[in-house]
Amino acid sequence: MQEKLDSIKKEALDAVEAITEISVLEAWQVKYLGRSSAIMEVFKSLGTLSKEEKPAIGKAANIVKVALEAASEEKESQLKQERINQSLAGEKIDVTLPGRRTVSGGLHPTTQTLREIYRVFGDMGFQIYRSQEVETDQYNFQHLNFPPYHPARDMQDTFFVKSAEDRGDDPLMLRTHTSPGQIHAMLEHTSKYPDDPPPIRIILPGMCYRYEQITARSEIQFNQVEGLAVGKGIAFGDLKGTLSNFARRMFGQDAKTRFRASHFPFTEPSAEMDVGCFLCKGEGCSVCKGAGWLEILGCGMVHPTVLKNGGFDPEVYSGFAFGMGPERITMMRHHIEDIRNFWANDLRFLEQF
Ligand code: DAH
Repeated sequence: MQEKLDSIKKEALDAVEAITEISVLEAWQVKYLGRSSAIMEVFKSLGTLSKEEKPAIGKAANIVKVALEAASEEKESQLKQERINQSLAGEKIDVTLPGRRTVSGGLHPTTQTLREIYRVFGDMGFQIYRSQEVETDQYNFQHLNFPPYHPARDMQDTFFVKSAEDRGDDPLMLRTHTSPGQIHAMLEHTSKYPDDPPPIRIILPGMCYRYEQITARSEIQFNQVEGLAVGKGIAFGDLKGTLSNFARRMFGQDAKTRFRASHFPFTEPSAEMDVGCFLCKGEGCSVCKGAGWLEILGCGMVHPTVLKNGGFDPEVYSGFAFGMGPERITMMRHHIEDIRNFWANDLRFLEQF
Protein backbone atom coordinates (compact mmCIF):
# COMPACT_ATOMS: atom_id res chain seq x y z
CA MET A 1 0.00 0.00 0.00
CA GLN A 2 2.81 2.41 0.87
CA GLU A 3 4.26 1.81 -2.58
CA LYS A 4 0.96 2.64 -4.18
CA LEU A 5 0.78 5.90 -2.22
CA ASP A 6 4.33 6.77 -3.26
CA SER A 7 3.52 6.22 -6.90
CA ILE A 8 0.30 8.32 -6.66
CA LYS A 9 2.34 11.11 -5.11
CA LYS A 10 5.16 10.93 -7.65
CA GLU A 11 2.80 10.89 -10.64
CA ALA A 12 0.76 13.84 -9.33
CA LEU A 13 3.77 15.97 -8.39
CA ASP A 14 5.50 15.32 -11.72
CA ALA A 15 2.31 16.32 -13.51
CA VAL A 16 1.78 19.55 -11.52
CA GLU A 17 5.39 20.57 -12.10
CA ALA A 18 4.83 20.84 -15.88
CA ILE A 19 1.62 22.91 -15.70
CA THR A 20 1.75 26.47 -17.15
CA GLU A 21 -1.96 27.39 -17.31
CA ILE A 22 -4.73 27.80 -14.76
CA SER A 23 -7.22 25.73 -16.77
CA VAL A 24 -4.79 22.81 -16.85
CA LEU A 25 -4.25 23.14 -13.11
CA GLU A 26 -8.01 22.96 -12.56
CA ALA A 27 -8.16 19.68 -14.53
CA TRP A 28 -5.24 18.39 -12.46
CA GLN A 29 -7.10 19.25 -9.23
CA VAL A 30 -10.09 17.20 -10.40
CA LYS A 31 -7.91 14.29 -11.44
CA TYR A 32 -5.63 14.10 -8.37
CA LEU A 33 -7.74 15.55 -5.57
CA GLY A 34 -11.31 15.10 -6.83
CA ARG A 35 -13.86 12.68 -5.45
CA SER A 36 -12.84 9.77 -7.70
CA SER A 37 -9.10 10.47 -7.58
CA ALA A 38 -6.71 7.66 -6.63
CA ILE A 39 -5.95 9.16 -3.24
CA MET A 40 -9.67 9.44 -2.41
CA GLU A 41 -10.13 5.81 -3.41
CA VAL A 42 -7.48 4.94 -0.80
CA PHE A 43 -9.48 6.74 1.89
CA LYS A 44 -12.66 4.99 0.78
CA SER A 45 -10.93 1.59 1.04
CA LEU A 46 -9.71 2.16 4.62
CA GLY A 47 -12.85 0.42 5.94
CA THR A 48 -11.76 -2.86 4.37
CA LEU A 49 -8.41 -2.86 6.20
CA SER A 50 -7.60 -4.56 9.46
CA LYS A 51 -7.51 -2.69 12.75
CA GLU A 52 -3.72 -2.82 12.82
CA GLU A 53 -3.20 -1.53 9.28
CA LYS A 54 -5.82 1.18 9.30
CA PRO A 55 -4.10 3.97 11.34
CA ALA A 56 -0.76 3.71 9.57
CA ILE A 57 -2.23 3.65 6.08
CA GLY A 58 -4.68 6.38 6.94
CA LYS A 59 -1.87 8.59 8.22
CA ALA A 60 0.32 7.90 5.19
CA ALA A 61 -2.56 8.63 2.79
CA ASN A 62 -3.24 11.91 4.58
CA ILE A 63 0.38 12.95 4.25
CA VAL A 64 0.15 12.41 0.47
CA LYS A 65 -3.15 14.35 0.26
CA VAL A 66 -1.69 17.31 2.19
CA ALA A 67 1.39 17.28 -0.05
CA LEU A 68 -0.78 17.35 -3.19
CA GLU A 69 -2.90 20.22 -1.83
CA ALA A 70 0.23 22.23 -0.97
CA ALA A 71 1.64 21.63 -4.45
CA SER A 72 -1.66 22.74 -5.99
CA GLU A 73 -1.77 25.96 -3.96
CA GLU A 74 1.80 26.79 -4.71
CA LYS A 75 1.23 26.29 -8.44
CA GLU A 76 -1.89 28.41 -8.37
CA SER A 77 -0.19 31.39 -6.76
CA GLN A 78 2.78 31.01 -9.08
CA LEU A 79 0.50 31.13 -12.15
CA LYS A 80 -1.39 34.15 -10.82
CA GLN A 81 1.82 36.05 -10.19
CA GLU A 82 3.00 35.27 -13.72
CA ARG A 83 -0.21 36.65 -15.11
CA ILE A 84 0.23 39.92 -13.12
CA ASN A 85 3.83 40.22 -14.29
CA GLN A 86 2.74 39.79 -17.88
CA SER A 87 0.09 42.51 -17.72
CA LEU A 88 2.50 44.91 -15.96
CA ALA A 89 5.09 44.32 -18.66
CA GLY A 90 2.46 45.33 -21.25
CA GLU A 91 1.79 48.62 -19.41
CA LYS A 92 5.30 49.93 -19.27
CA ILE A 93 5.46 53.73 -18.84
CA ASP A 94 8.06 55.67 -20.76
CA VAL A 95 8.94 58.41 -18.32
CA THR A 96 11.02 60.19 -20.95
CA LEU A 97 7.94 60.98 -23.10
CA PRO A 98 6.99 64.69 -23.17
CA GLY A 99 3.92 65.46 -21.00
CA ARG A 100 0.48 66.11 -22.43
CA ARG A 101 -0.37 69.80 -22.55
CA THR A 102 -3.35 70.77 -20.41
CA VAL A 103 -5.58 73.16 -22.28
CA SER A 104 -6.23 76.34 -20.38
CA GLY A 105 -8.76 78.99 -21.28
CA GLY A 106 -7.91 82.61 -21.96
CA LEU A 107 -9.54 85.98 -21.58
CA HIS A 108 -11.90 87.05 -24.34
CA PRO A 109 -10.29 89.77 -26.48
CA THR A 110 -12.98 92.27 -25.41
CA THR A 111 -12.29 91.47 -21.75
CA GLN A 112 -8.60 92.15 -22.35
CA THR A 113 -9.39 95.54 -23.87
CA LEU A 114 -11.88 96.33 -21.09
CA ARG A 115 -9.26 95.56 -18.44
CA GLU A 116 -6.75 97.84 -20.12
CA ILE A 117 -9.32 100.64 -20.20
CA TYR A 118 -10.06 100.08 -16.49
CA ARG A 119 -6.35 100.18 -15.70
CA VAL A 120 -5.71 103.40 -17.61
CA PHE A 121 -8.67 105.24 -16.09
CA GLY A 122 -7.99 103.66 -12.71
CA ASP A 123 -4.51 105.20 -12.81
CA MET A 124 -6.15 108.57 -13.46
CA GLY A 125 -8.39 108.22 -10.39
CA PHE A 126 -11.61 107.01 -12.03
CA GLN A 127 -13.74 104.44 -10.20
CA ILE A 128 -15.96 101.81 -11.82
CA TYR A 129 -19.71 102.32 -11.46
CA ARG A 130 -21.97 99.42 -12.47
CA SER A 131 -25.42 100.19 -13.70
CA GLN A 132 -28.42 98.13 -14.78
CA GLU A 133 -29.01 96.70 -18.26
CA VAL A 134 -32.81 97.00 -18.15
CA GLU A 135 -33.78 100.66 -18.23
CA THR A 136 -36.82 102.87 -18.42
CA ASP A 137 -37.41 105.27 -21.29
CA GLN A 138 -36.93 108.01 -18.74
CA TYR A 139 -33.35 107.06 -17.94
CA ASN A 140 -32.30 105.72 -21.32
CA PHE A 141 -33.65 108.78 -23.20
CA GLN A 142 -35.64 111.47 -21.38
CA HIS A 143 -33.20 112.32 -18.56
CA LEU A 144 -30.46 112.41 -21.17
CA ASN A 145 -32.27 115.20 -22.95
CA PHE A 146 -33.79 113.16 -25.76
CA PRO A 147 -37.30 114.68 -26.03
CA PRO A 148 -40.06 112.12 -26.82
CA TYR A 149 -40.00 112.53 -30.59
CA HIS A 150 -36.36 113.49 -30.97
CA PRO A 151 -34.94 112.08 -34.23
CA ALA A 152 -31.83 110.83 -32.36
CA ARG A 153 -34.04 108.09 -30.88
CA ASP A 154 -34.22 106.58 -34.35
CA MET A 155 -30.46 106.15 -34.27
CA GLN A 156 -30.89 103.70 -31.42
CA ASP A 157 -33.48 101.11 -32.37
CA THR A 158 -34.60 99.56 -29.16
CA PHE A 159 -35.47 96.16 -27.68
CA PHE A 160 -38.50 96.69 -25.47
CA VAL A 161 -39.03 94.54 -22.38
CA LYS A 162 -42.42 96.04 -21.52
CA SER A 163 -44.12 98.06 -24.18
CA ALA A 164 -45.69 101.51 -24.04
CA GLU A 165 -49.15 99.88 -23.77
CA ASP A 166 -48.21 98.44 -20.37
CA ARG A 167 -46.29 101.42 -19.02
CA GLY A 168 -47.65 104.51 -20.74
CA ASP A 169 -44.88 106.77 -21.94
CA ASP A 170 -42.19 105.07 -19.86
CA PRO A 171 -41.66 101.61 -21.41
CA LEU A 172 -38.98 99.23 -20.09
CA MET A 173 -36.16 98.48 -22.48
CA LEU A 174 -32.69 97.03 -22.77
CA ARG A 175 -30.36 99.99 -22.54
CA THR A 176 -29.13 101.16 -25.93
CA HIS A 177 -26.06 102.80 -24.40
CA THR A 178 -24.34 103.13 -21.02
CA SER A 179 -25.21 106.83 -20.71
CA PRO A 180 -28.29 106.26 -18.45
CA GLY A 181 -25.80 105.09 -15.80
CA GLN A 182 -24.62 108.74 -15.65
CA ILE A 183 -28.03 109.75 -14.29
CA HIS A 184 -28.13 106.91 -11.74
CA ALA A 185 -24.63 107.75 -10.55
CA MET A 186 -25.30 111.49 -10.27
CA LEU A 187 -28.64 111.03 -8.46
CA GLU A 188 -27.12 108.55 -6.01
CA HIS A 189 -24.27 110.97 -5.38
CA THR A 190 -26.35 114.12 -4.98
CA SER A 191 -28.87 112.41 -2.69
CA LYS A 192 -25.98 111.17 -0.53
CA TYR A 193 -24.32 114.62 -0.45
CA PRO A 194 -27.21 117.08 -0.94
CA ASP A 195 -25.33 120.18 0.22
CA ASP A 196 -21.97 120.32 -1.46
CA PRO A 197 -21.37 117.10 -3.45
CA PRO A 198 -17.67 116.25 -3.92
CA PRO A 199 -16.45 115.63 -7.48
CA ILE A 200 -17.43 112.52 -9.42
CA ARG A 201 -14.88 110.63 -11.52
CA ILE A 202 -16.22 107.33 -12.81
CA ILE A 203 -16.29 104.97 -15.75
CA LEU A 204 -19.39 102.90 -16.43
CA PRO A 205 -18.73 99.72 -18.41
CA GLY A 206 -21.40 97.33 -19.57
CA MET A 207 -23.46 95.56 -22.18
CA CYS A 208 -25.78 97.48 -24.49
CA TYR A 209 -28.41 96.27 -26.95
CA ARG A 210 -29.80 97.59 -30.19
CA TYR A 211 -32.45 96.14 -32.45
CA GLU A 212 -30.37 96.19 -35.59
CA GLN A 213 -29.55 94.12 -38.59
CA ILE A 214 -26.54 91.97 -37.66
CA THR A 215 -23.73 92.57 -40.12
CA ALA A 216 -19.94 92.50 -40.14
CA ARG A 217 -20.02 96.02 -38.67
CA SER A 218 -22.99 95.97 -36.29
CA GLU A 219 -24.18 93.58 -33.61
CA ILE A 220 -27.33 93.66 -31.49
CA GLN A 221 -25.23 93.24 -28.34
CA PHE A 222 -22.00 95.05 -27.54
CA ASN A 223 -20.08 96.69 -24.71
CA GLN A 224 -19.58 100.34 -24.03
CA VAL A 225 -17.44 102.17 -21.55
CA GLU A 226 -18.96 105.46 -20.45
CA GLY A 227 -17.00 108.07 -18.55
CA LEU A 228 -18.19 110.91 -16.37
CA ALA A 229 -16.46 113.66 -14.44
CA VAL A 230 -18.48 116.30 -12.58
CA GLY A 231 -17.22 119.00 -10.25
CA LYS A 232 -16.57 122.69 -9.93
CA GLY A 233 -14.65 124.39 -12.70
CA ILE A 234 -14.31 121.40 -15.03
CA ALA A 235 -13.68 122.71 -18.56
CA PHE A 236 -13.34 121.38 -22.09
CA GLY A 237 -9.56 121.45 -21.62
CA ASP A 238 -9.91 118.84 -18.87
CA LEU A 239 -11.85 116.63 -21.27
CA LYS A 240 -9.20 116.97 -23.97
CA GLY A 241 -6.34 116.43 -21.55
CA THR A 242 -7.91 113.35 -19.95
CA LEU A 243 -8.87 111.70 -23.23
CA SER A 244 -5.57 112.47 -24.98
CA ASN A 245 -3.78 111.04 -21.98
CA PHE A 246 -6.00 107.96 -22.19
CA ALA A 247 -5.11 107.56 -25.89
CA ARG A 248 -1.38 107.73 -25.17
CA ARG A 249 -1.57 105.21 -22.32
CA MET A 250 -3.77 102.90 -24.35
CA PHE A 251 -2.25 103.14 -27.83
CA GLY A 252 1.33 104.26 -27.20
CA GLN A 253 3.15 107.41 -26.10
CA ASP A 254 3.29 108.80 -29.65
CA ALA A 255 -0.49 108.43 -30.23
CA LYS A 256 -1.91 111.58 -31.82
CA THR A 257 -5.47 112.70 -31.11
CA ARG A 258 -7.86 115.12 -32.74
CA PHE A 259 -11.33 116.32 -31.75
CA ARG A 260 -14.09 116.90 -34.30
CA ALA A 261 -17.34 118.72 -33.54
CA SER A 262 -20.32 116.40 -33.28
CA HIS A 263 -23.78 116.21 -31.74
CA PHE A 264 -25.26 114.26 -28.87
CA PRO A 265 -28.40 115.38 -27.00
CA PHE A 266 -26.75 114.94 -23.60
CA THR A 267 -23.59 116.98 -24.20
CA GLU A 268 -22.98 120.57 -25.25
CA PRO A 269 -20.64 121.10 -26.95
CA SER A 270 -20.15 117.57 -28.32
CA ALA A 271 -17.17 116.06 -30.08
CA GLU A 272 -15.71 112.86 -31.42
CA MET A 273 -12.12 111.93 -30.75
CA ASP A 274 -9.95 110.29 -33.40
CA VAL A 275 -6.60 108.65 -32.83
CA GLY A 276 -3.87 108.66 -35.46
CA CYS A 277 -4.06 105.21 -37.08
CA PHE A 278 -1.73 103.01 -35.03
CA LEU A 279 -1.28 100.56 -37.88
CA CYS A 280 -0.08 102.87 -40.66
CA LYS A 281 0.97 105.76 -38.37
CA GLY A 282 -1.21 108.12 -40.37
CA GLU A 283 -0.09 107.14 -43.85
CA GLY A 284 -3.44 105.59 -44.78
CA CYS A 285 -4.28 101.87 -44.76
CA SER A 286 -7.25 99.49 -44.99
CA VAL A 287 -8.08 99.80 -41.29
CA CYS A 288 -8.36 103.60 -41.34
CA LYS A 289 -9.70 103.47 -44.91
CA GLY A 290 -6.92 105.71 -46.09
CA ALA A 291 -7.86 108.49 -43.65
CA GLY A 292 -4.91 108.07 -41.30
CA TRP A 293 -7.32 108.53 -38.35
CA LEU A 294 -9.54 106.15 -36.37
CA GLU A 295 -12.69 107.29 -34.60
CA ILE A 296 -12.42 106.11 -30.99
CA LEU A 297 -15.12 107.78 -28.93
CA GLY A 298 -17.90 110.34 -28.54
CA CYS A 299 -17.59 112.98 -25.84
CA GLY A 300 -18.63 116.42 -24.69
CA MET A 301 -19.43 118.72 -21.80
CA VAL A 302 -22.40 117.39 -19.83
CA HIS A 303 -25.53 119.29 -20.95
CA PRO A 304 -26.91 121.63 -18.24
CA THR A 305 -30.28 119.85 -18.43
CA VAL A 306 -28.57 116.49 -17.78
CA LEU A 307 -26.66 117.94 -14.82
CA LYS A 308 -29.96 119.23 -13.44
CA ASN A 309 -31.59 115.80 -13.96
CA GLY A 310 -28.73 114.33 -11.94
CA GLY A 311 -29.35 116.74 -9.07
CA PHE A 312 -26.50 119.16 -9.80
CA ASP A 313 -26.90 122.92 -10.13
CA PRO A 314 -25.48 123.68 -13.62
CA GLU A 315 -24.66 127.22 -12.50
CA VAL A 316 -22.16 125.82 -10.00
CA TYR A 317 -21.09 122.46 -11.41
CA SER A 318 -19.90 121.34 -14.80
CA GLY A 319 -18.56 118.12 -16.20
CA PHE A 320 -17.50 116.09 -19.19
CA ALA A 321 -18.62 112.69 -20.43
CA PHE A 322 -17.49 110.22 -23.05
CA GLY A 323 -18.48 106.87 -24.46
CA MET A 324 -16.50 104.27 -26.38
CA GLY A 325 -16.96 100.77 -27.79
CA PRO A 326 -14.35 98.24 -26.60
CA GLU A 327 -15.25 95.78 -29.39
CA ARG A 328 -14.57 98.49 -31.95
CA ILE A 329 -11.23 99.31 -30.35
CA THR A 330 -10.34 95.59 -30.25
CA MET A 331 -11.25 95.25 -33.93
CA MET A 332 -8.97 98.10 -34.90
CA ARG A 333 -6.08 96.89 -32.78
CA HIS A 334 -6.17 93.32 -34.03
CA HIS A 335 -7.39 94.05 -37.53
CA ILE A 336 -10.59 92.02 -36.95
CA GLU A 337 -12.89 92.53 -39.90
CA ASP A 338 -16.14 91.01 -38.65
CA ILE A 339 -17.75 91.99 -35.32
CA ARG A 340 -19.77 88.73 -35.34
CA ASN A 341 -16.59 86.89 -34.30
CA PHE A 342 -17.00 88.30 -30.78
CA TRP A 343 -20.11 86.20 -30.06
CA ALA A 344 -19.50 83.22 -32.35
CA ASN A 345 -17.54 81.34 -29.65
CA ASP A 346 -15.31 79.86 -32.33
CA LEU A 347 -12.12 78.58 -30.68
CA ARG A 348 -10.13 79.22 -33.86
CA PHE A 349 -10.86 82.91 -33.30
CA LEU A 350 -10.60 83.00 -29.51
CA GLU A 351 -7.33 81.07 -29.32
CA GLN A 352 -5.52 83.83 -31.17
CA PHE A 353 -5.66 86.18 -28.19
N1 DAH B 1 -24.11 107.27 -25.75
C1 DAH B 1 -23.44 107.45 -27.00
C2 DAH B 1 -23.73 106.31 -27.96
O1 DAH B 1 -24.16 105.30 -27.54
C3 DAH B 1 -21.95 107.52 -26.79
C4 DAH B 1 -21.56 108.76 -26.07
C5 DAH B 1 -21.25 109.90 -26.77
C6 DAH B 1 -21.50 108.79 -24.70
C7 DAH B 1 -20.89 111.05 -26.14
C8 DAH B 1 -21.13 109.94 -24.03
C9 DAH B 1 -20.84 111.09 -24.77
O2 DAH B 1 -21.06 110.03 -22.71
O3 DAH B 1 -20.47 112.25 -24.11
O4 DAH B 1 -23.51 106.44 -29.12
